[in-house]
Amino acid sequence: MFDDFRSFVEELDKKGELKKIQGADWDLEIGTITELFAERRGPAPLFDEVKGYSKGYRIAANVVMTARRQKIAFGIPEEMPELEVIRDWKDKFNRYKPMPPREVKTGPVMENVLKEENINILKFPTPKWHEKDGGRYIGTGVVTITKDPDEGWVNCGTYRVMIHNEKTLAFYSSVGKHAVIAREKYWAKGENCPVVICFGQDMLLFAMATMQLPWGMSEFEAAGYMKGKPIEVIRGPITGLPIPATAEIVIEGFSPPPSVDSRPEGPFGEWTGYYASGARNEPVVHLKAIYHRSDPILHGQPPVKPPANTWYPIPLHTAVTLWNRLEVSGMPGIKGVYVHGPGNRIIAVVSIKQGYLGHAKQVGTLAATMLSGGACSGRYIIVVDEDIDPADWESVMWALTTRCNPEDSIDRVRGFLTSPLDPMLPPEKREKRDFTTAKVIINACKPYHWMKDFPPVNRASDALRKKVMEKWSSLFV
Ligand SMILES: Cc1cc2nc3c(=O)[nH]c(=O)nc-3n(C[C@H](O)[C@H](O)[C@H](O)COP(=O)(O)O)c2cc1C
Repeated sequence: MFDDFRSFVEELDKKGELKKIQGADWDLEIGTITELFAERRGPAPLFDEVKGYSKGYRIAANVVMTARRQKIAFGIPEEMPELEVIRDWKDKFNRYKPMPPREVKTGPVMENVLKEENINILKFPTPKWHEKDGGRYIGTGVVTITKDPDEGWVNCGTYRVMIHNEKTLAFYSSVGKHAVIAREKYWAKGENCPVVICFGQDMLLFAMATMQLPWGMSEFEAAGYMKGKPIEVIRGPITGLPIPATAEIVIEGFSPPPSVDSRPEGPFGEWTGYYASGARNEPVVHLKAIYHRSDPILHGQPPVKPPANTWYPIPLHTAVTLWNRLEVSGMPGIKGVYVHGPGNRIIAVVSIKQGYLGHAKQVGTLAATMLSGGACSGRYIIVVDEDIDPADWESVMWALTTRCNPEDSIDRVRGFLTSPLDPMLPPEKREKRDFTTAKVIINACKPYHWMKDFPPVNRASDALRKKVMEKWSSLFV
């Protein structure tokens, strides 16, 4: 596995997965090329010599938007089926043992240090990605690092970052996210919240930052565990927070209480396919230092309108923790978990071996409570039988259309957390900051109490298939 972002980008190049592009404009050209490449499932664009910027200040986009690239990024065998990838990571999380980061004195990220009047985040060729974006978003594939002031553990999360000016960034994170909880604790004490943000870093640390890990589990420790060796960090000279030693670009700064400073953030072309959250006043980060490697590569992962996608196609960020939590809860019979839809967050599918009356309803209700905390996350939960591969959308549709009776197989539960990014939040709820939504729990399993009488499936048995395929082997090469 790779210890930094650039060695992963180099590997993409070696494997024919990269396209180098010189001379594009940061103002909408890079964003539009990225979108067009995503729609065509093209190679990952690596932009250099961006208009108005020096050679070597690069941006790599769409780096994990295909299953192949995602597998390369995380050292997953390329032939492994999608559900097995989720199962493998889920099994690793079931055996989880924290691997604390290793503090080192210095590292490549300290090759260039900018302080005081030299602080200028506009030094990097940050794109304006979408036409209606309210600014240039440097943070699309980021890791934001904060510390809980009372409990002392360090969190990493991926939260978008807009540039306000040379020394000020927007700090947008949705309600309920761990950084939001931590920063409010500082503000309640009248203190500024220390923040480190990395723009281009070890991909496993990025993966952990995008996963909804439990409260108290540090993504640094989880990334080290998944790699089998500690993440190397430098103690931030200003904030004391850990800085990944091999990151491309890092800022250290402080987020003051919104009563002291908050500014309009957005609109931004969001992963749901809309500019739903518009512009609102949000907290900011005042920069106290910038560190960067020479010839830095900014990690760009701007959302594009579905069904195109620049995020992971295999839902490691949502399905792994959902499966793990269902198992840890002691729920029997869980055979597979997958999450479909925009951002791989909206439609969760859980396959089960039904063991008792009400089992499917119990699993669906539990899954609905466990997959939450982002716009429309887990808005639809579908429970299917064990013969359905939850990763195979066509098979899920077959179950939904043949094993689900709308009269009694569908439930709606109100009052779950969504976020301002939810395009279906009515203006009056948005106004009151009532970011809640209903969820739909769909039982698409054969009805338990008459399962034995359910019509048999008209697929040739495995024994018959084997016999016929052996006899007609030349047809099935
Ligand atoms: C590419 C990408 C971008 C994301 N951007 C945001 C964002 O701007 N704001 C946000 O609250 N969550 C965003 N998320 C989701 C969070 O990263 C995710 O919920 C994560 O679990 C948050 O970390 P936390 O649980 O430690 O708060 C994004 C996820 C991905 C994959």
